[in-house]
Amino acid sequence: MSLAHHLGLFLGLCLVLLARLQMARGLANCPTGCECDDDTLMVNCGEGTLDVLPIALNPAIQRLVIKNNKLKTIDSSMQFYAQLTFLDLSFNDMVSIPERSFAYHAKLQELHLDHNKIGQVSNRTFQGLSTISVLNLRGNLIAELEYRTFSPMGKLAELNLGQNRISHIDPHALDGLVNLRVLYLDDNTLTTVPDELTFQALPSLAELYLGTNSFMTIPSGAFQDLKGLTLLDLRGAGLHNISEDALKGLEALRSMDLSDNRLVTIPTAAFQKLGRLEELNIGQNDFEMISSGAFAGLRELRHLELTGAQRLRRVESGAFTGNSNLEHLNLSSNKQLSELPATALGGLPHLSTVVLKANQLSTLDEGLVPWADLQTLDLSENPFVCDCRLLWLRHLLLSRNSSGQYAPVMCAYPSALRDLPLAQLAEPLLGCAHGAASKQAIIGILVVVCAALITTLALLLYTCRRRIRELLKGHSALGRKEREYQKTFSDEEYMARPPPGCGGVHPAAGGYPYMAGHGGSGRPIPVTEL
Ligand SMILES: *[C@@H]1O[C@H](CO)[C@@H](O)[C@H](O)[C@H]1NC(C)=O
Ligand SMILES: *[C@@H]1O[C@H](CO)[C@@H](O)[C@H](O)[C@H]1NC(C)=O
Ligand SMILES: *[C@@H]1O[C@H](CO)[C@@H](O)[C@H](O)[C@H]1NC(C)=O
Ligand SMILES: *[C@@H]1O[C@H](CO)[C@@H](O)[C@H](O)[C@H]1NC(C)=O
Repeated sequence: MSLAHHLGLFLGLCLVLLARLQMARGLANCPTGCECDDDTLMVNCGEGTLDVLPIALNPAIQRLVIKNNKLKTIDSSMQFYAQLTFLDLSFNDMVSIPERSFAYHAKLQELHLDHNKIGQVSNRTFQGLSTISVLNLRGNLIAELEYRTFSPMGKLAELNLGQNRISHIDPHALDGLVNLRVLYLDDNTLTTVPDELTFQALPSLAELYLGTNSFMTIPSGAFQDLKGLTLLDLRGAGLHNISEDALKGLEALRSMDLSDNRLVTIPTAAFQKLGRLEELNIGQNDFEMISSGAFAGLRELRHLELTGAQRLRRVESGAFTGNSNLEHLNLSSNKQLSELPATALGGLPHLSTVVLKANQLSTLDEGLVPWADLQTLDLSENPFVCDCRLLWLRHLLLSRNSSGQYAPVMCAYPSALRDLPLAQLAEPLLGCAHGAASKQAIIGILVVVCAALITTLALLLYTCRRRIRELLKGHSALGRKEREYQKTFSDEEYMARPPPGCGGVHPAAGGYPYMAGHGGSGRPIPVTEL
């Protein structure tokens, strides 16, 4: 054989070996734009234009991520990757998932199919996913959840069906999800809260997201089988009304979001059922006032957000009666809220954060909350009238200047002080000098008058001490004979001839009205009236 021939064979062998090596490392079949790591068994394809699943990836891969590409469907090549535990095909163009696409994926734990254009899933779509714990279908076009669609996934803990077009849910659609803890059904087109039967199938459910739907109302006992539910999100659910029994059975609920609905009153009666609720958001609703005891029953409430309620004008006295554990109160951006009486926030010894930002408050009562105990206070963006009534607030803000957790308070009125920070105003600018001076004058006059009265009285008592003693004796001794006793001292006699020892002070001069008249108009004063 010629040397050339030998060389040729050798080169050929080398190429084959190289190919084998590359194959083993997965390099040969790693599509451009992807990273394929055969040590960690991960394939990660960045944003690109892949429109079919790569065929010849390492069959042992455990993690496959093809996000932000142009995949149209899941084809049969998926069956080669049966070792996958994590599959992310989100942000592609998939319109459907063929039946039994995951029939060989008994190890798959997370499947992310969110943000595609999937219009339908059925009870054959997810067959084989016996160990899956997270399924994300958010941001697709699913309109209906059919009979037992998710039944093959007994280990599923989190199911995200948010941001679809779901308008109908078969009452048995979620059957078999005995381990489901978190369910997102928010941002769909549901017009009624899912049937009780739907929830009966979910004994482990802890978090339920139902916001951004159009429910109008919640049927009585709708959630009564969700005994372990700790979080219920009904934000933007179109609720006009929450009847007394709507929240029945939610014994473990800790956190609820009712913001951005159309509630015209705080559903006080329904709240009676939520003895363990700690966190409530009920902002952006239509009520005009928070009446006394509105949240009574929420004994464990710690954190309350009531912001952006465009019609709220008034918080009544005792509004938070019964919520003595409240720590965080956010009452901001209620553009019409101007009435906050001194006792509105009474009985809240644990308050540490108070946000009253961007309301319509013109003044604040010093007794509203124990201001100095607060860790965070925001009173900014209110049309405060900076006058003597806010002098205490100026002192408070100054005393907390260094800590920096108090937002600055700006004046809106009087116009001379507009946009000036209250804390930096000199005290006389708040108009307290005049007020204080006149107050002092009044107090001074009162003191002088009282002193004069007391002195006169004391003098009179002293000079008339004997007479008074006699009178006292007479009264206690005579009792019933009082009239006779009084007769013996006629008015004339009394006025004309002062009793012994009383001559020094003319009674009339002392200013005693009952002695002012002469003759028959005066009368002796029984000691009991003195
Ligand atoms: C799938 O749903 C159909 C009705 O839509 C039903 O007849 C069939 O029994 C279901 N299959 C399973 C495995 O639940
Ligand atoms: C509020 O709920 C009650 C009882 O469910 C119902 O009778 C009433 O019509 C509802 N009101 C509105 C405005 O939806
Ligand atoms: C109070 O609520 C507003 C509006 O929702 C929010 O932006 C702000 O962060 C909240 N402040 C605190 C201290 O929670
Ligand atoms: C408050 O603090 C600011 C800076 O944090 C400072 O400029 C200002 O002088 C302080 N005011 C008083 C009264 O201490």
